[in-house]
Amino acid sequence: MNKKTELVVKKVPTESSAPDGFTALSDLELVAQSVIFIFAGYEPTSTSLSFLVYELATHPDVQQKLQEEIDATFPNKEPPTYDALVQMEYLDMVLNETLRLYPIGGRLERVCKKDVEISGVCIPKGTVVMVPTYTLHRDLDHWPEPEEFHPERFSKKNKDNINPYIYLPFGTGPRNCIGMRFAIMNMKLAVVRLLQNFSFKPCEETQIPLKLNSLGIIQPEKPIVLKVELRDGSVNRA
Ligand code: HEM
Ligand SMILES: *[C@@H]1O[C@H](CO)[C@@H](O)[C@H](O)[C@H]1NC(C)=O
Ligand SMILES: *[C@@H]1O[C@H](CO)[C@@H](O)[C@H](O)[C@H]1NC(C)=O
Repeated sequence: MNKKTELVVKKVPTESSAPDGFTALSDLELVAQSVIFIFAGYEPTSTSLSFLVYELATHPDVQQKLQEEIDATFPNKEPPTYDALVQMEYLDMVLNETLRLYPIGGRLERVCKKDVEISGVCIPKGTVVMVPTYTLHRDLDHWPEPEEFHPERFSKKNKDNINPYIYLPFGTGPRNCIGMRFAIMNMKLAVVRLLQNFSFKPCEETQIPLKLNSLGIIQPEKPIVLKVELRDGSVNRA
């Protein structure tokens, strides 16, 4: 951390302000939580948005349909409102299909708290159980043409066939992603604002098909490069 971004943590009286039976966060814990929110929050949000615009650029029919929904919901490039955003069905479908193909974490992990047997498999206490999200999201038994980008999988008609333990972009249970609702709203807002004014197109540097980095979190092997065009056809001199 350089001088400019140095964190200044003021001492706050904690003991007295914590209600009975609870312990207040220490200064160190406060800083640690804030850092987690930045890494667990901004990184996956921006990476997911990159994947989303890549899929739009390579599926112009989807991009056009989404722009039609956006224009119908917010005529004359009106600023988006929360209530209207949550009603947008196609936007939700496009976002969910992006997170199916690119579940940033790639896998979930849990530590087994007591010896159990599940479907004949013995799991001793203390074992780390890994749930392979990426693999489940592309499993042919659950998704026809799993490698294809098809937002229709999440249409009203089809979405009931999706098993909530197979589609896990934000994990599940009491320790799922705490930022899920914020992240979804944030991404939808960004997509609407961008597509109100711009269209994404592939260009020479665009890697098609996109290759993923096989290490750790899901990331493109090479940065995603796209051409951005103003929708009204004028030249952007900014
Ligand atoms: C596209 C955006 C995001 C994706 C795909 C994502 C995905 C995930 C996943 C898969 C987990 C693990 C859940 C589990 O084990 O069941 C997780 C945990 C977590 N996420 Fe997110 N996340 C996103 C954005 C955010 C944002 C914006 C924040 C905070 C503002 C955030 C904060 C956290 C935290 C604190 C945890 C740990 C929760 C716990 O262990 O109790 N995430 N996220
Ligand atoms: C999209 O995913 C979110 C969270 O994962 C879920 O709440 C929503 O119902 C899904 N939408 C569709 C159309 O499946
Ligand atoms: C979109 O264009 C309008 C003017 O047509 C401008 O006011 C607005 O800031 C632009 N939004 C973005 C995200 O570029």
